[in-house]
Amino acid sequence: MNWYNLPTYYDISFSEGMREELDFLKAVFSKYSKGEYARLLEPACGTGRLIIPLARCGFDCTGFDLNDNALKYLQEKLKRNSLRATIFKGDMIDFPANRKKYDAAYCTVDTFRHLLSESKAIQHMLNVAGVLKKNGIYILGLHLIPEQGVTDKITRWTAKRGRLTVKTSIEMLALNKKEQTETLRVVLNPITITGNEKFESIYKLRTYSLKQFQKLVASSKHFEIENVYDHNYDIANPVMLNAKSDYGVFVLRKSS
Ligand SMILES: C[S@@+](CC[C@H](N)C(=O)[O-])C[C@H]1O[C@@H](n2cnc3c(N)ncnc32)[C@H](O)[C@@H]1O
Repeated sequence: MNWYNLPTYYDISFSEGMREELDFLKAVFSKYSKGEYARLLEPACGTGRLIIPLARCGFDCTGFDLNDNALKYLQEKLKRNSLRATIFKGDMIDFPANRKKYDAAYCTVDTFRHLLSESKAIQHMLNVAGVLKKNGIYILGLHLIPEQGVTDKITRWTAKRGRLTVKTSIEMLALNKKEQTETLRVVLNPITITGNEKFESIYKLRTYSLKQFQKLVASSKHFEIENVYDHNYDIANPVMLNAKSDYGVFVLRKSS
């Protein structure tokens, strides 16, 4: 089972904590980019969890994903809300360039880690750099493997929309530091007044320590790390991550 094939449940699950993430993204666009009318690109946009509210705020949004169910969900939601955005099916490592370039791109909640090899990650960064305007920014949010200490093996949360409650758990089943991958099990548990189902999805993500991520950005030659933030999403206070850090939101500036 691929949990991304269940867009309604995914969208509710990831609405948890989204307000802070969204306010932070808007603050980043305002501080580092063109502000509220910016042209934005979201690679692997999924259900448009972030595109819908950003389009509503007046941003000119474009998104793409490989998952047909998620894209259909997003198109229908845009239509229902009389909102506009450019949506297409595309791969993070091979998406078409547009004549009009973007002020900023963003890719959070570990989506970048779906690219399982260094060559794919670098190809993706090359593609994003190619569609950004001069001095454009790319915001990448991802969990890091601490070089010291341990990572939490299981994360659980509950989100609610109307009568539907979705419980989610993400468990790390295996970590292969040499291969730089982790195997995760996600369980989505939607609960309605009529029933209670469980959907299990097992997949791999690429892992990065802080040093490995910094090295990747440097070797991509297309971006420089301008600032970094953590779970607090405090736009006025960028942080200095260290060997114990397990999460970072990186503001990357396209190299000139
Ligand atoms: C964690 S979801 C994030 C969705 C959305 N960006 C969000 O913030 O809610 C990861 C998404 O990446 C998509 N995905 C994974 N690999 C991809 C690839 N190579 N190209 C395009 N989309 C991909 C999946 O279909 C899924 O929708």
